Amino acid sequence: MKFFLDTADINEIKRINQLGLVDGITTNPSIIAKEGKNFEEVIKEICSVVKGPVSAEVIGMETEEMLQEAREIAKWATNVVVKIPMTEAGLRAVHILSREGIKTNVTLIFSVAQGLMATKAGANYISPFVGRIDDTGTDGVNLVKDLKQILNEYQFDTEIITASIRNISHLQNAAIAGADIATIPGSLFPKLWSHPLTDIGIEKFLADWEKVPK
Ligand code: E4P
Repeated sequence: MKFFLDTADINEIKRINQLGLVDGITTNPSIIAKEGKNFEEVIKEICSVVKGPVSAEVIGMETEEMLQEAREIAKWATNVVVKIPMTEAGLRAVHILSREGIKTNVTLIFSVAQGLMATKAGANYISPFVGRIDDTGTDGVNLVKDLKQILNEYQFDTEIITASIRNISHLQNAAIAGADIATIPGSLFPKLWSHPLTDIGIEKFLADWEKVPK
């Protein structure tokens, strides 16, 4: 399973990258807006630090606008992946871009049907948003499980990025469901390697070590 960081904060990226845990990055317009910097500069800087896929999203809603933006974004770095929203215009753009060799990540996937459409259109990645599905009272990870089963069954190469991850259970259950990738917010990452019993254990060992004759 690959871990992506769902952030554009370069310091956060550098810190977690040092642990060898970052296989790629996902961003979206909301994430980019938090940085208060130029979109192109932010993406280029991230791509210079992380060698894996870095998703950068288009803003245009018409196919032609998406294509124009995607072709421009694709020039920024060799590891850039263009994020396209799950709409009819988006599917058309994905289909054209796949034939041009530009990698795409179809975002805002909330159903099996949407995941299948994006996959068939030629997306390299599809992003089901588990946290936002949970917010509606339905178990979001079930979508990942279903998509994984279908993509395996029909031997599609498209990879599933479990997105909108909000807690440790989301990550663990996405892994159990066989998700190819989990994109994790920077604030959640430290919680994945921490446990109160580990802290208590270390404290006890150090206290006992003081009793060892020096
Ligand atoms: C993924 O690509 C998205 O950027 C992200 O996971 C959205 O998460 P949110 O629902 O917490 O905004």
